[in-house]
Amino acid sequence: EKAGYKHFMAKEIFEQPVVLADAIRHYLSDDGQTIARPGDEIDFAGIDRIAMVACGTAYIACLTAKYWFERLAGLPVDVDVASEFRYREPPIPDRTLALFVSQSGETADTLAALRFCKGRAAQTVAVVNVAESSIARESDLALPILAGVEIGVASTKAFTCQLTVLAILALKAAHARGRIDDAALAGHLEGLNGLPGLVNVALALETPIKALAQRLAEAEDALFLGRGAMFPLALEGALKLKEISYIHAEGYASGELKHGPIALVDKRMPVIVMAPHDRLFDKTVSNMQEVLARGGKVLLITDAAGAEEAGEEVWQRLVLPDAPELVEPILYAIPAQLLAYHTAVAKGTDVDQPRNLAKSVTVE
Ligand code: M6R
Repeated sequence: EKAGYKHFMAKEIFEQPVVLADAIRHYLSDDGQTIARPGDEIDFAGIDRIAMVACGTAYIACLTAKYWFERLAGLPVDVDVASEFRYREPPIPDRTLALFVSQSGETADTLAALRFCKGRAAQTVAVVNVAESSIARESDLALPILAGVEIGVASTKAFTCQLTVLAILALKAAHARGRIDDAALAGHLEGLNGLPGLVNVALALETPIKALAQRLAEAEDALFLGRGAMFPLALEGALKLKEISYIHAEGYASGELKHGPIALVDKRMPVIVMAPHDRLFDKTVSNMQEVLARGGKVLLITDAAGAEEAGEEVWQRLVLPDAPELVEPILYAIPAQLLAYHTAVAKGTDVDQPRNLAKSVTVE
Protein backbone atom coordinates (compact mmCIF):
# COMPACT_ATOMS: atom_id res chain seq x y z
CA GLU A 1 0.00 0.00 0.00
CA LYS A 2 2.96 2.29 0.41
CA ALA A 3 3.46 2.10 -3.35
CA GLY A 4 7.16 1.37 -2.98
CA TYR A 5 7.82 4.14 -0.44
CA LYS A 6 9.32 3.40 2.96
CA HIS A 7 6.65 5.33 4.80
CA PHE A 8 3.11 6.55 4.18
CA MET A 9 4.36 10.05 4.84
CA ALA A 10 6.76 9.84 1.88
CA LYS A 11 4.04 8.44 -0.34
CA GLU A 12 1.70 11.23 0.70
CA ILE A 13 4.33 13.92 0.14
CA PHE A 14 4.96 12.65 -3.37
CA GLU A 15 1.25 12.32 -4.16
CA GLN A 16 0.83 16.07 -3.88
CA PRO A 17 1.13 17.03 -7.58
CA VAL A 18 -1.71 14.60 -8.37
CA VAL A 19 -4.07 15.42 -5.50
CA LEU A 20 -3.53 19.16 -5.86
CA ALA A 21 -4.43 18.87 -9.55
CA ASP A 22 -7.55 16.89 -8.55
CA ALA A 23 -8.62 19.57 -6.09
CA ILE A 24 -7.99 22.36 -8.58
CA ARG A 25 -9.93 20.52 -11.29
CA HIS A 26 -12.87 20.01 -8.94
CA TYR A 27 -13.21 23.67 -8.02
CA LEU A 28 -12.40 25.37 -11.34
CA SER A 29 -14.26 25.42 -14.63
CA ASP A 30 -13.04 23.11 -17.40
CA ASP A 31 -11.06 25.89 -19.06
CA GLY A 32 -9.52 26.80 -15.69
CA GLN A 33 -10.51 30.46 -16.11
CA THR A 34 -13.33 30.70 -13.59
CA ILE A 35 -14.40 29.15 -10.29
CA ALA A 36 -17.05 26.45 -10.76
CA ARG A 37 -17.50 25.59 -7.06
CA PRO A 38 -18.69 26.81 -4.71
CA GLY A 39 -21.32 28.76 -6.64
CA ASP A 40 -23.61 31.11 -4.76
CA GLU A 41 -23.90 28.84 -1.69
CA ILE A 42 -21.64 31.28 0.14
CA ASP A 43 -22.80 34.90 0.08
CA PHE A 44 -19.39 36.56 0.25
CA ALA A 45 -20.85 39.97 -0.57
CA GLY A 46 -23.20 39.63 2.39
CA ILE A 47 -20.59 39.10 5.11
CA ASP A 48 -18.31 41.53 6.91
CA ARG A 49 -15.80 39.16 8.46
CA ILE A 50 -14.65 35.57 8.75
CA ALA A 51 -13.95 33.57 11.90
CA MET A 52 -11.68 30.60 11.19
CA VAL A 53 -11.26 27.78 13.68
CA ALA A 54 -9.13 24.62 13.59
CA CYS A 55 -6.36 22.67 15.36
CA GLY A 56 -2.75 21.82 14.54
CA THR A 57 -1.77 21.92 10.90
CA ALA A 58 -5.32 22.85 9.89
CA TYR A 59 -5.01 25.89 12.18
CA ILE A 60 -1.81 26.83 10.37
CA ALA A 61 -3.67 26.56 7.05
CA CYS A 62 -6.19 29.06 8.48
CA LEU A 63 -3.41 31.44 9.55
CA THR A 64 -2.09 31.36 5.97
CA ALA A 65 -5.54 31.93 4.46
CA LYS A 66 -6.00 35.00 6.65
CA TYR A 67 -3.36 36.77 4.54
CA TRP A 68 -5.27 35.86 1.37
CA PHE A 69 -8.76 36.81 2.55
CA GLU A 70 -7.57 40.11 3.95
CA ARG A 71 -5.37 41.11 1.05
CA LEU A 72 -7.45 39.86 -1.86
CA ALA A 73 -11.00 40.16 -0.55
CA GLY A 74 -10.64 42.92 2.04
CA LEU A 75 -12.32 40.72 4.63
CA PRO A 76 -11.07 40.87 8.23
CA VAL A 77 -10.31 37.38 9.54
CA ASP A 78 -9.91 36.08 13.07
CA VAL A 79 -8.16 32.75 13.46
CA ASP A 80 -8.43 30.70 16.62
CA VAL A 81 -7.34 27.31 17.83
CA ALA A 82 -10.53 25.43 18.49
CA SER A 83 -9.75 24.52 22.10
CA GLU A 84 -9.49 28.22 22.98
CA PHE A 85 -12.39 29.37 20.86
CA ARG A 86 -14.88 26.86 22.26
CA TYR A 87 -14.41 27.88 25.89
CA ARG A 88 -13.82 31.56 25.24
CA GLU A 89 -17.19 31.64 23.52
CA PRO A 90 -16.37 34.87 21.69
CA PRO A 91 -19.10 37.22 20.50
CA ILE A 92 -19.99 36.46 16.90
CA PRO A 93 -21.06 39.70 15.18
CA ASP A 94 -23.79 39.66 12.54
CA ARG A 95 -22.64 38.91 9.03
CA THR A 96 -19.81 36.63 10.21
CA LEU A 97 -18.94 33.58 8.16
CA ALA A 98 -17.59 30.80 10.40
CA LEU A 99 -15.07 28.59 8.62
CA PHE A 100 -13.78 25.31 10.07
CA VAL A 101 -10.86 23.35 8.67
CA SER A 102 -10.22 19.70 9.56
CA GLN A 103 -8.63 16.81 7.75
CA SER A 104 -10.46 14.12 9.72
CA GLY A 105 -13.64 16.09 10.29
CA GLU A 106 -13.77 14.49 13.74
CA THR A 107 -11.51 16.67 15.88
CA ALA A 108 -13.44 17.14 19.14
CA ASP A 109 -12.55 20.78 19.79
CA THR A 110 -13.23 21.86 16.20
CA LEU A 111 -16.59 20.09 16.27
CA ALA A 112 -17.50 21.80 19.56
CA ALA A 113 -16.53 25.18 18.06
CA LEU A 114 -18.74 24.48 15.06
CA ARG A 115 -21.66 23.63 17.35
CA PHE A 116 -21.12 26.90 19.23
CA CYS A 117 -21.29 28.86 15.95
CA LYS A 118 -24.46 27.23 14.69
CA GLY A 119 -27.29 29.71 15.06
CA ARG A 120 -24.83 32.49 15.87
CA ALA A 121 -22.81 32.85 12.63
CA ALA A 122 -24.48 33.80 9.35
CA GLN A 123 -23.21 30.55 7.90
CA THR A 124 -20.95 27.67 8.91
CA VAL A 125 -18.65 26.25 6.24
CA ALA A 126 -16.29 23.31 6.69
CA VAL A 127 -13.21 22.48 4.65
CA VAL A 128 -12.65 18.77 5.22
CA ASN A 129 -10.91 15.75 3.79
CA VAL A 130 -13.28 13.10 5.12
CA ALA A 131 -16.57 13.92 3.40
CA GLU A 132 -18.72 11.72 5.67
CA SER A 133 -17.36 13.17 8.89
CA SER A 134 -19.24 14.83 11.77
CA ILE A 135 -17.87 18.29 10.92
CA ALA A 136 -18.90 17.89 7.27
CA ARG A 137 -22.38 16.74 8.29
CA GLU A 138 -23.06 19.39 10.87
CA SER A 139 -21.89 22.43 8.91
CA ASP A 140 -24.18 24.33 6.52
CA LEU A 141 -21.80 23.66 3.67
CA ALA A 142 -18.90 21.18 3.43
CA LEU A 143 -16.14 21.66 0.89
CA PRO A 144 -13.94 18.60 0.25
CA ILE A 145 -10.19 18.98 -0.18
CA LEU A 146 -9.93 15.73 -2.16
CA ALA A 147 -6.53 14.76 -0.77
CA GLY A 148 -7.46 11.09 -0.55
CA VAL A 149 -6.86 9.01 2.58
CA GLU A 150 -4.02 10.40 4.68
CA ILE A 151 -2.42 7.82 6.96
CA GLY A 152 0.78 9.46 8.20
CA VAL A 153 0.11 11.20 11.50
CA ALA A 154 2.04 14.22 10.25
CA SER A 155 -0.32 15.96 7.87
CA THR A 156 1.23 16.77 4.49
CA LYS A 157 -1.00 16.48 1.44
CA ALA A 158 -4.05 17.48 3.49
CA PHE A 159 -2.30 20.74 4.42
CA THR A 160 -1.49 21.73 0.84
CA CYS A 161 -4.96 20.70 -0.36
CA GLN A 162 -6.54 22.73 2.46
CA LEU A 163 -4.48 25.71 1.37
CA THR A 164 -5.49 25.21 -2.25
CA VAL A 165 -9.21 25.16 -1.42
CA LEU A 166 -8.81 28.17 0.88
CA ALA A 167 -6.94 30.08 -1.86
CA ILE A 168 -9.81 29.39 -4.25
CA LEU A 169 -12.30 30.57 -1.61
CA ALA A 170 -10.31 33.77 -1.09
CA LEU A 171 -10.35 34.41 -4.83
CA LYS A 172 -14.07 33.68 -4.95
CA ALA A 173 -14.62 36.16 -2.12
CA ALA A 174 -12.46 38.80 -3.81
CA HIS A 175 -14.38 38.42 -7.06
CA ALA A 176 -17.83 38.35 -5.42
CA ARG A 177 -16.97 41.50 -3.46
CA GLY A 178 -15.85 43.31 -6.59
CA ARG A 179 -12.23 43.54 -5.47
CA ILE A 180 -10.88 41.74 -8.55
CA ASP A 181 -12.37 41.59 -12.06
CA ASP A 182 -12.69 38.57 -14.36
CA ALA A 183 -9.28 39.12 -15.91
CA ALA A 184 -7.52 39.38 -12.57
CA LEU A 185 -9.33 36.28 -11.36
CA ALA A 186 -8.28 34.36 -14.48
CA GLY A 187 -4.69 35.51 -13.92
CA HIS A 188 -4.67 34.20 -10.35
CA LEU A 189 -6.26 30.93 -11.45
CA GLU A 190 -3.64 30.48 -14.11
CA GLY A 191 -1.04 30.70 -11.37
CA LEU A 192 -2.94 28.12 -9.37
CA ASN A 193 -3.14 25.80 -12.38
CA GLY A 194 0.64 25.90 -12.54
CA LEU A 195 0.97 24.77 -8.92
CA PRO A 196 1.15 20.97 -9.44
CA GLY A 197 4.02 21.47 -11.90
CA LEU A 198 5.88 23.71 -9.45
CA VAL A 199 5.37 21.17 -6.68
CA ASN A 200 7.00 18.55 -8.92
CA VAL A 201 10.03 20.78 -9.29
CA ALA A 202 10.17 21.29 -5.52
CA LEU A 203 9.97 17.52 -4.93
CA ALA A 204 13.03 17.10 -7.12
CA LEU A 205 15.01 18.84 -4.35
CA GLU A 206 14.77 15.66 -2.31
CA THR A 207 18.44 14.70 -2.77
CA PRO A 208 19.95 17.94 -1.43
CA ILE A 209 17.32 18.04 1.32
CA LYS A 210 18.25 14.51 2.37
CA ALA A 211 21.90 15.53 2.66
CA LEU A 212 20.93 18.58 4.69
CA ALA A 213 18.72 16.52 6.95
CA GLN A 214 21.73 14.45 8.06
CA ARG A 215 23.11 17.66 9.54
CA LEU A 216 19.81 18.84 10.95
CA ALA A 217 19.43 15.50 12.71
CA GLU A 218 22.37 16.46 14.94
CA ALA A 219 20.62 19.57 16.21
CA GLU A 220 18.79 19.79 19.51
CA ASP A 221 16.80 22.86 18.57
CA ALA A 222 15.83 24.61 15.38
CA LEU A 223 14.22 27.93 14.59
CA PHE A 224 12.04 28.61 11.56
CA LEU A 225 11.49 32.20 10.41
CA GLY A 226 9.15 33.73 7.85
CA ARG A 227 7.35 36.98 7.13
CA GLY A 228 3.88 37.63 5.74
CA ALA A 229 2.23 34.44 4.51
CA MET A 230 5.58 32.70 5.08
CA PHE A 231 5.18 33.21 8.83
CA PRO A 232 2.55 30.44 9.12
CA LEU A 233 4.80 28.28 6.93
CA ALA A 234 7.56 28.76 9.48
CA LEU A 235 5.12 27.49 12.11
CA GLU A 236 4.29 24.51 9.92
CA GLY A 237 7.97 23.71 9.31
CA ALA A 238 8.58 23.72 13.06
CA LEU A 239 5.47 21.65 13.84
CA LYS A 240 6.36 19.01 11.26
CA LEU A 241 9.97 18.76 12.48
CA LYS A 242 9.05 18.44 16.16
CA GLU A 243 6.25 15.93 15.54
CA ILE A 244 8.31 13.34 13.75
CA SER A 245 11.98 13.98 14.61
CA TYR A 246 11.40 15.11 18.23
CA ILE A 247 13.82 17.98 17.69
CA HIS A 248 12.63 21.02 19.57
CA ALA A 249 11.62 23.54 16.93
CA GLU A 250 9.92 26.90 17.00
CA GLY A 251 8.42 28.98 14.26
CA TYR A 252 8.53 32.75 14.54
CA ALA A 253 7.60 35.79 12.51
CA SER A 254 10.96 37.11 11.29
CA GLY A 255 10.26 40.50 12.81
CA GLU A 256 9.86 38.93 16.25
CA LEU A 257 13.44 37.68 16.24
CA LYS A 258 14.83 40.52 18.30
CA HIS A 259 11.90 40.35 20.70
CA GLY A 260 13.17 37.15 22.22
CA PRO A 261 14.28 34.16 20.14
CA ILE A 262 17.56 35.74 19.02
CA ALA A 263 18.80 34.99 22.54
CA LEU A 264 18.84 31.31 21.56
CA VAL A 265 21.04 31.76 18.52
CA ASP A 266 24.55 30.34 18.72
CA LYS A 267 26.87 28.33 16.47
CA ARG A 268 24.90 25.15 16.93
CA MET A 269 21.51 26.59 16.15
CA PRO A 270 20.09 25.90 12.70
CA VAL A 271 17.80 28.73 11.60
CA ILE A 272 15.60 27.92 8.65
CA VAL A 273 14.55 31.09 6.83
CA MET A 274 11.65 30.74 4.39
CA ALA A 275 11.79 33.76 2.14
CA PRO A 276 10.83 34.05 -1.52
CA HIS A 277 12.09 37.19 -3.24
CA ASP A 278 8.97 39.25 -2.60
CA ARG A 279 8.27 42.76 -1.32
CA LEU A 280 9.23 41.65 2.21
CA PHE A 281 12.48 39.95 1.23
CA ASP A 282 14.84 42.75 2.25
CA LYS A 283 13.32 42.86 5.71
CA THR A 284 13.82 39.14 6.16
CA VAL A 285 17.39 39.33 4.89
CA SER A 286 18.22 41.88 7.54
CA ASN A 287 16.84 39.49 10.19
CA MET A 288 18.98 36.78 8.64
CA GLN A 289 22.06 39.00 8.94
CA GLU A 290 21.36 39.33 12.65
CA VAL A 291 21.38 35.54 12.94
CA LEU A 292 24.60 35.25 10.90
CA ALA A 293 26.30 37.92 13.01
CA ARG A 294 25.76 35.68 16.03
CA GLY A 295 27.22 32.63 14.33
CA GLY A 296 23.83 31.01 13.63
CA LYS A 297 23.65 28.44 10.84
CA VAL A 298 21.18 29.75 8.28
CA LEU A 299 19.37 27.48 5.86
CA LEU A 300 17.69 29.80 3.38
CA ILE A 301 14.74 28.48 1.41
CA THR A 302 14.15 30.93 -1.40
CA ASP A 303 14.00 31.40 -5.19
CA ALA A 304 16.76 32.22 -7.69
CA ALA A 305 16.58 35.98 -7.16
CA GLY A 306 16.57 35.52 -3.40
CA ALA A 307 19.55 33.17 -3.49
CA GLU A 308 21.51 35.68 -5.52
CA GLU A 309 20.74 38.59 -3.24
CA ALA A 310 21.26 36.75 0.03
CA GLY A 311 25.05 36.72 -0.09
CA GLU A 312 27.57 34.01 0.53
CA GLU A 313 27.51 33.68 4.28
CA VAL A 314 24.46 31.46 4.57
CA TRP A 315 25.19 27.91 5.64
CA GLN A 316 22.94 26.23 3.07
CA ARG A 317 20.38 27.32 0.52
CA LEU A 318 17.52 25.58 -1.22
CA VAL A 319 16.30 27.21 -4.40
CA LEU A 320 12.65 26.79 -5.39
CA PRO A 321 11.18 27.82 -8.72
CA ASP A 322 9.66 31.30 -9.09
CA ALA A 323 5.96 31.22 -8.31
CA PRO A 324 3.05 33.65 -8.20
CA GLU A 325 2.73 35.15 -4.72
CA LEU A 326 -0.60 33.41 -4.09
CA VAL A 327 0.78 29.89 -4.44
CA GLU A 328 4.13 30.49 -2.73
CA PRO A 329 3.01 29.31 0.72
CA ILE A 330 1.75 26.06 -0.80
CA LEU A 331 4.99 25.51 -2.68
CA TYR A 332 7.19 26.27 0.34
CA ALA A 333 5.38 23.57 2.33
CA ILE A 334 7.18 20.95 0.22
CA PRO A 335 10.77 21.54 1.40
CA ALA A 336 9.48 21.92 4.97
CA GLN A 337 7.84 18.48 4.74
CA LEU A 338 10.84 16.82 3.09
CA LEU A 339 13.21 18.33 5.62
CA ALA A 340 11.18 17.02 8.55
CA TYR A 341 10.74 13.64 6.89
CA HIS A 342 14.42 13.05 6.12
CA THR A 343 15.54 14.35 9.49
CA ALA A 344 13.23 11.86 11.18
CA VAL A 345 14.46 9.06 8.92
CA ALA A 346 18.06 10.02 9.76
CA LYS A 347 17.20 9.85 13.45
CA GLY A 348 15.40 6.54 13.03
CA THR A 349 12.15 7.64 14.64
CA ASP A 350 8.76 6.14 13.81
CA VAL A 351 7.78 8.52 11.03
CA ASP A 352 4.20 7.41 10.41
CA GLN A 353 3.29 6.81 14.06
CA PRO A 354 5.22 9.31 16.15
CA ARG A 355 5.18 8.70 19.89
CA ASN A 356 2.26 10.11 21.88
CA LEU A 357 0.33 11.29 18.81
CA ALA A 358 -2.91 10.08 17.22
CA LYS A 359 -4.09 10.75 13.69
CA SER A 360 -7.47 11.91 14.81
CA VAL A 361 -7.97 13.68 18.13
CA THR A 362 -11.55 12.85 19.00
CA VAL A 363 -11.24 13.59 22.71
CA GLU A 364 -10.27 17.02 24.02
O1 M6R B 1 -8.13 16.16 11.52
P1 M6R B 1 -7.75 17.57 11.84
O2 M6R B 1 -7.29 18.34 10.63
O3 M6R B 1 -8.86 18.33 12.54
O4 M6R B 1 -6.54 17.47 12.82
C1 M6R B 1 -5.96 18.61 13.39
C2 M6R B 1 -4.63 18.28 14.04
O5 M6R B 1 -4.78 17.28 15.01
C3 M6R B 1 -3.57 17.83 13.01
O6 M6R B 1 -3.40 18.76 11.99
C4 M6R B 1 -2.22 17.59 13.70
O7 M6R B 1 -1.69 18.80 14.16
C5 M6R B 1 -1.25 16.88 12.74
N1 M6R B 1 -0.61 15.79 13.40
C6 M6R B 1 -0.23 17.83 12.16
O8 M6R B 1 0.71 17.19 11.37
